[in-house]
Amino acid sequence: MANRRLAPAAEQPESFAFTPENAAWAKGQIAKYPEGRQASAVIPLLWRAQEQNGGWLPQKAIEAVAAELGMPAIRVLEVATFYTMFALEPVGRYWIQVCGTVPCDSCGARELKDMLHQRLGPSGHVDPTGTFSWLEVECLGACCNAPMVQINQDYYEDLTPELLGKLMDDLAAGRPVKVGSQIDRNASEPLGGPNTLTDPTLYDGSRVGAWRKRFEESRKDEGAQASKSEAASSEQQAATNPKPARPDAGRAVETTSSDAPAQRAAAGEAPVKGGDRAEAADQEHSTAGKSEAPGSQPKAIKDLEPAGAEAGSQSSLPRDVPPPQPVASGEEEPSEPAPNAESPKLPKGRSKPKPPAKPERT
Ligand code: FES
Repeated sequence: MANRRLAPAAEQPESFAFTPENAAWAKGQIAKYPEGRQASAVIPLLWRAQEQNGGWLPQKAIEAVAAELGMPAIRVLEVATFYTMFALEPVGRYWIQVCGTVPCDSCGARELKDMLHQRLGPSGHVDPTGTFSWLEVECLGACCNAPMVQINQDYYEDLTPELLGKLMDDLAAGRPVKVGSQIDRNASEPLGGPNTLTDPTLYDGSRVGAWRKRFEESRKDEGAQASKSEAASSEQQAATNPKPARPDAGRAVETTSSDAPAQRAAAGEAPVKGGDRAEAADQEHSTAGKSEAPGSQPKAIKDLEPAGAEAGSQSSLPRDVPPPQPVASGEEEPSEPAPNAESPKLPKGRSKPKPPAKPERT
């Protein structure tokens, strides 16, 4: 990186003032910014001052811009010394700025600088003919076509020392030159031409909606493949592991009735009467839900214990015992039954329930 210092006093002009045309232009630039923000116009004004002064910024131009914007001169000098687009020393008719940042350096910028040093001398100095001067600068934003140089306001890219030398010869001689890449490269495309996005259907509109069509076709293919493989696997399974046929599947099973008259007649038994069937059904219902030992005979209805006997409710009394009458309202309930009162008959094997024990007094 070159030193950013003002030119020696011997090279500095005694004064600087914008031409009336540039002064009017500067007023227009300043008017773009709100009151109190005029300093925002510092770069356009410095650039115009450099152009007016033949391509470089003298100290007096920096002070004139500071006065125009109401800024301290040191603040304007800070801006001018920060950006390499501002030349602080006199430059040749063609000012060559060589990018020396890593991408360009890796691609041959050092060879370019060596060549310029040999041809023009140290950077920051104008050659004896006043045609060229050069300076190393930081990245100029054309890294994809490194190495490159900026000459005045144009970029020249994909350079070699030979190509740069020829370019300088052409410029010095006033011959037309090609701006941009100096090899067979269009703009910043890959060397040898583009190698991506080369399908012409990208640009003729035929791809509109094509993705949907492709998607639907691929879904169809996938569905067909899935059903094919499913059928194949079913066939394979049937061949390797056949299932036995089930003729009765889904049909009612027909069985012969053992008490049908024809069956009983064939067995030498009398046909079953309707009354016998009803009695058998009653017995079946009354014994349903009772747990009986396997193989035991069903009990007759009269031998069965009445329902609710376990709970001691009225319904547990035998049928021939009248139930106790409820106590009428207002009448005292007898605390003890009369000695000669006839107690209700309890079922056989049942004893009278004992009254609850009275708590002992302490
Ligand atoms: S590194 Fe040279 S232009 Fe970016």
